[in-house]
Amino acid sequence: MTEGGSQRHSQRSHGLRPYALRCDHRTTPLGIGESAPLLSWRLAAGEKTPRGNAPVAYRVDVAEDPDGPSHWDTGRVEDTGATGVGYAGPPLRPRTRYHWRVTVWAASGGAESAESWFETGLGEGEWRASWIARDWTAVDVVDPPEEGERALDSHGLSPSPLLRREFTAPMTPVRARLYVSARGLYEVRVNGERAGDAELAPGWTDYRHRIQYQAYDVTELVREGANALAVTLADGWWSGYVGFDPRRAGAHYGTFPQLIAQLHLDYPDGSADVVGTDETWRAARGPIRYADLLMGECHDARYTVDGWDRPGFDDGGWEAARVADTDTSLLVASVDEPVRALGELPPAEIRKVGPETHLVDFGQNFAGRVRLTVRGLAPGRRVVLRHAEALDEDGSLYVTNLRTAAATDVLIGRGDDTVVFEPRFTYHGFRYAEVTGLPELDAADVTGVVLHSDTPWAGAFDCSDPGVRRLHHNITWGQRSNFVSVPTDCPQRDERLGWLADAQVFLPTACLNADVAAFFAKWTRDVLDAQSPDGGFPNVAPRLAGVADEGAPGWGDAGVLVPWHLYRVYGDERFLACSLDAMGAWVDLIHRHNPDLIWRTKVGPHFADWLSLGRPTPREVVATAYFARSAELTARAARVLGDGRADRYAALAADVRRAFIEEFVSADGRIEGDTQTAYLLALAFELLPGELADPAGKRLAALVEEAGPRLSTGFLGVGLIAPVLDGLDRPDLVHALLGRTEQPSWLYPLRHGATTIWERWDGYTDEGGFQAPAMNSFNHYALGSVGEWLYRGLAGLDQAPDSVAYGDLVIRPRPFTPPEVSGAEPSWAEAAYESPRGRIGVRWERADGRFQLDLTVPPGATATVHLPVPRTWDVREGDDPVGDAPGVEIVGSEPAAEERSFVCRVSSGEYRFLARRTE
Ligand code: BGC
Repeated sequence: MTEGGSQRHSQRSHGLRPYALRCDHRTTPLGIGESAPLLSWRLAAGEKTPRGNAPVAYRVDVAEDPDGPSHWDTGRVEDTGATGVGYAGPPLRPRTRYHWRVTVWAASGGAESAESWFETGLGEGEWRASWIARDWTAVDVVDPPEEGERALDSHGLSPSPLLRREFTAPMTPVRARLYVSARGLYEVRVNGERAGDAELAPGWTDYRHRIQYQAYDVTELVREGANALAVTLADGWWSGYVGFDPRRAGAHYGTFPQLIAQLHLDYPDGSADVVGTDETWRAARGPIRYADLLMGECHDARYTVDGWDRPGFDDGGWEAARVADTDTSLLVASVDEPVRALGELPPAEIRKVGPETHLVDFGQNFAGRVRLTVRGLAPGRRVVLRHAEALDEDGSLYVTNLRTAAATDVLIGRGDDTVVFEPRFTYHGFRYAEVTGLPELDAADVTGVVLHSDTPWAGAFDCSDPGVRRLHHNITWGQRSNFVSVPTDCPQRDERLGWLADAQVFLPTACLNADVAAFFAKWTRDVLDAQSPDGGFPNVAPRLAGVADEGAPGWGDAGVLVPWHLYRVYGDERFLACSLDAMGAWVDLIHRHNPDLIWRTKVGPHFADWLSLGRPTPREVVATAYFARSAELTARAARVLGDGRADRYAALAADVRRAFIEEFVSADGRIEGDTQTAYLLALAFELLPGELADPAGKRLAALVEEAGPRLSTGFLGVGLIAPVLDGLDRPDLVHALLGRTEQPSWLYPLRHGATTIWERWDGYTDEGGFQAPAMNSFNHYALGSVGEWLYRGLAGLDQAPDSVAYGDLVIRPRPFTPPEVSGAEPSWAEAAYESPRGRIGVRWERADGRFQLDLTVPPGATATVHLPVPRTWDVREGDDPVGDAPGVEIVGSEPAAEERSFVCRVSSGEYRFLARRTE
């Protein structure tokens, strides 16, 4: 960097400190492929920072050597830089670490800096390795049973191959980078040590379009002299069982797993070396007799090959690996963080249920697997682990809802003193594990290992109501369990597909819970890969031939809604730029097939308002509402990008809205079908002008009220009901729905001990027991999409409709209005969120005649604050009457005539508002 020294921008601490530096939404990514990555940061205000302090300028400089010359230096740019800066310097060199520093100048003067780095991956044409495999023509498809052994159902799957190769390093390298991918799953070791901590790598993409590779820094593992590279492969999504097509392992992509790897070594004398996969590698079968995501994994310790992953092992008896393919054109750098083991659960309870059988309750439904320490397992003896989400009436595992997913792991002993068994190439959705084959089971020997894509937690929510607190807990576990390389519907049965509607409805909640920008950047590409040439978005992404088809209203529309929402949350226009053509093609497709603007044809397997209760919402109503919404958001996306298509799509959206009204809405605001979801879609998507929206809103409220109050929505309506009722100034109804514990309701499952969100409102009932096992998951996040309102509504942490990346906040806590009416609703709530600008914090608390709100507005943001008290109350901010408080501007009350809430504007800073009833 030009002027040397890391202090040069830091003249004095004035209190705006950049932190959480990201490159393409990831922290210090290794091996990026993007030529113009986005460099972004958040800001934290120091204690002495004056209110209203905001960033006014930034500077980013990028250098290979942190003390050397700049590779790119923006110089001081008079802009907030709030949503990051796209790299625009000279081309980035491959396999190069770039250090970067951001300096932010604040309005209050002074500047502060922070540093980070990113590293580029392989350059164009640098893949020279080949896809290799164990000789697939010679491999027994199914492992035959050992002599005298009980038959082992290997589900038609072959043993996992081991692949190894040794190489000599003339000296200790200064830098070693390993680039790896698989058609299948891989685990790679260097000299006996595991490289990295990615699980289920390389993750799931449509391997016919795109295969991500991962990069590992293995500098510490490579040494002078002999070294060994050792890889275990498994079928995974590539050649294992995928989705509900369970008879056909290997039907979707390939039939045997393959590896590609390239190790780049840089030596201190400037020389370099590359070791890649080719026919010089050696292959054999290993101890894994089969491994499959749905079926489970069998580890037969008798086949353990001791020392195979270290140098000096004699692989003379092994076969030569075979080159399966040399096409590297589909390999791309990863854009997301991998799945990792991100938590551990000790058993909550262990019950002995048979002479050699124990039932372990982890107290939490989750996705992952069991780690089990087993002592003295005799050769050939088996320990079998079965997994389930629930228990049957008789206390045994309830597995029928897993359908054909065997979800069974097996360990076969060879007489070792101790074996730590943790399957590596499978995962299950479960709370209970049944362990058979051990007379005793000590709690210290059993651990639940939680697996999911590494999406850093960004939000926190809590409130005084234990039921709602529990609901939020369950929602977060639904998210953890189902963000496994792709956003899946469920983690347990033979499905686990990236259903588009599920992802679309849950996205707003997901974005508040965690930083999912990189995760969805990857999945957005999966959706694009899956679009058919005529513009049809799939119903699941990655798309599977013959599974789920395409184009269902609300499902296909996720191709439009998801990028739009990501843009609004993260402010990264690339979400729109990469999807805009696809969005347009989708909207055009619907238009082409429905020239009268009522979406009736080209609806795929129309799922309507999936799993709603009672009277169904007419299919054309659902579809046409989504058509209008997609056209509208395509127009908005085009407008953001300055694209000429904006007006055309805006006009189309207006026409579809008009057609919707003509076809389905009567003069008194009644919508055909007269269901909650019909009104919710029309109101949430702003399809109705005021004179119709008004009565339609009243009708919705009446429907909800008359029913109980009770909801009847399915997947498409459920995420809208709280925000829409709230927008109608009926938070009382939202609280009534939220507080309800009868079926159907969000809290009903708690009565049956739910620790995650169920797929169906009535997954289990007192009268009927389990719902039909053909479709009854206890870990589906869609109905948890109310989680968004817990942050936005109940706690009151939101952004204005036109705001992007939380630049303009709306802080509008929603206890029952007015607060002196006491009810069952919470007496306090709080939410915190790591927004792209920095931390937002809201906490409110009320008692009779008193309301307090603590608020943190991040640097550079503004906020409209609604205190749910009349203006006649005594309102103070800190020690001052609110009218005199620095940085607080009173802007009125809402509704203006009724003066029920007190509204003011503030900007960056910390605030404490205290309102008291005056008389
Ligand atoms: C999945 C859903 C999905 C639906 C489509 C189900 O099998 O589990 O979550 O959205 O099919 O109707």
